[in-house]
Amino acid sequence: MSKLWGGRFTKTAEEWVDAFGASIGFDQKLVKEDLTGSLAHVAMLGKCGILPADEVEQITEGLKTLQKKADAGELEFSVQNEDIHLNLEKLLIDEIGPVGGKLHTGRSRNDQVATDMHLYLRNETNEIMGAVRNVQQALVNQAKQHVETLIPGYTHLQRAQPVSFAHHLLAYFWMLERDFSRYEDSLKRVNISPLGAGALAGTTFPIDREYSAELLGFDGIYQNSLDAVSDRDFIVEFLSSSATLMMHLSRLCEELILWSSQEFQFIEMDDSFATGSSIMPQKKNPDMAELIRGKTGRVYGSLFSLLTVLKGLPLAYNKDMQEDKEGMFDAVETVKGSLNIFAGMIDTMTVNNETMEKAVHQDFSNATELADYLATKGMPFREAHEVVGKLVLTAIEKGVYLLDLTIEEYKQASDLFSEDIFEVLQPKTVVARRNSAGGTGFEQVKLALTKADKILQVK
Ligand code: ARG
Repeated sequence: MSKLWGGRFTKTAEEWVDAFGASIGFDQKLVKEDLTGSLAHVAMLGKCGILPADEVEQITEGLKTLQKKADAGELEFSVQNEDIHLNLEKLLIDEIGPVGGKLHTGRSRNDQVATDMHLYLRNETNEIMGAVRNVQQALVNQAKQHVETLIPGYTHLQRAQPVSFAHHLLAYFWMLERDFSRYEDSLKRVNISPLGAGALAGTTFPIDREYSAELLGFDGIYQNSLDAVSDRDFIVEFLSSSATLMMHLSRLCEELILWSSQEFQFIEMDDSFATGSSIMPQKKNPDMAELIRGKTGRVYGSLFSLLTVLKGLPLAYNKDMQEDKEGMFDAVETVKGSLNIFAGMIDTMTVNNETMEKAVHQDFSNATELADYLATKGMPFREAHEVVGKLVLTAIEKGVYLLDLTIEEYKQASDLFSEDIFEVLQPKTVVARRNSAGGTGFEQVKLALTKADKILQVK
C-alpha cells in the first residue's frame, strides 16, 4: 500500500516494521480532537485566502462526514497509515477526492499532534476537576454527619490526641483542593495553541495562527515554533498533578483499609464496594480501596516514563515523542476511574461511632491535656511533661487510664491539680478546646465546613 509520504521511497517497509512504528492502535483516541483541529485549520486557510472558499467548503463537509462516521463507529483505520493523522487524511481523500490533500497545506503532523494533545488534555483535565469536586462533596457530606464523632488521632500510628472525625475527613478535602488548583493552574499552559508552528520552523504560507487558536478556544499561541512542537511539559505537569492526587487517594485508601479491619472496626465499607473471598466465607475485602492504592503506582510510572522519554531529546520533534500518549491515556482513565469509585465509597461507607468513641476512652491520648493544665497554672511545660509522664506510668502499672486515677493520686503528683481535671480529661473536652485556627475544636470544624461549602458551591 502506498504511503501518503511515499514519494522519496523506492521500497516499502514490511508489515511488521510498519506495525512497530504505528501509533494508530492507541492514538485513534484522538479522532475527535484531530478532526476539530483540522476544521479550524481549514477555516483559517480559507480566511487567509490560502485556499478558495469552495475547496474549504468541500474539505469542511468531508471532515464533518468523517466525524459522523467516527461517532457511528464506522471509520476503519489501518496500520499502514501509521497514525490517526495520516489515517484521517487518507479517509478524507477517499471521501472527497484529491482536494482532500489540500488540508495539510501549511501544517505538519508535528504541530497537528501537539494540537490534538492540547485539546484532549484540556477536555480531560476539566472532567477530572469535576470528579475531584465530587469526591470533595462526598467527604463534606460525611464530615457534616460526624462533627462530634471522635476518633483517635495518630502520629507514628500510635494514639496521639483525639480529633473530630469530620476534621480528619476534611484534611483530605484540603489535599484535594490543592490537587484541584494544580489542575486548574495547569490549564493555563494546556490552553495554548501550537497549530501553525509547522514541522518546526513555521511556514511560508500567510497563515493566521491567532485565528485558528481562537476557533479552537485557546487563550493564545506558542511564541516559538520549535518550542511549540517540542513541548510536552503540559503532559508532564498533568501526570505530576495526577501522581500527587493518586498519592492522596492512596493515603486515604490505606486508612479506610485499616479502619475497616477487625482490629479497628471504625468503618464498614458498603457491600457494593467490597468483595468476598472464594474460599473464606466470612471475608469482606476492601478491594476497591486496595486497587486504587495499587493503581497509584501506574500513574507514577507514566510520569517517570515520560520524563525519561523527554530527557536529553534534541529539538525539535523526534519519534520518541510518540511514546507520550499511552501513559497519558492510561493516567486519564486511572484517575477518572479512581475518583468515581472513591466518591461512591465515601458516600456509602458506614461509620461506627461507638467503636470510635470507645477507642478514644481507652487510651492515653488525653495526656497532653494534663501537661497543658499544669503549664497554664504556671509550671514550666518541660516539668509538667515529666509529672504527667509519671502519672501515665502509674496508670499503666495499675492497668487503668488517666480518668480512672483518684484526685489523691493527682494531688500527690502535683498540688496544682484539682477536681476540674476530670472534666478536662474527657475526650470531648479535649477536642472542643483545640479551638486554634485550623484546629480540631468543634467551632473550627464548623467554620471549615462553611468554607468547604462555599468552595463547592462555585462548582
Ligand atoms: N504519530 C506521531 C506521534 O504521535 C505523530 C507525529 C509524527 N510526526 C512525524 N514527523 N513523524 O508523535
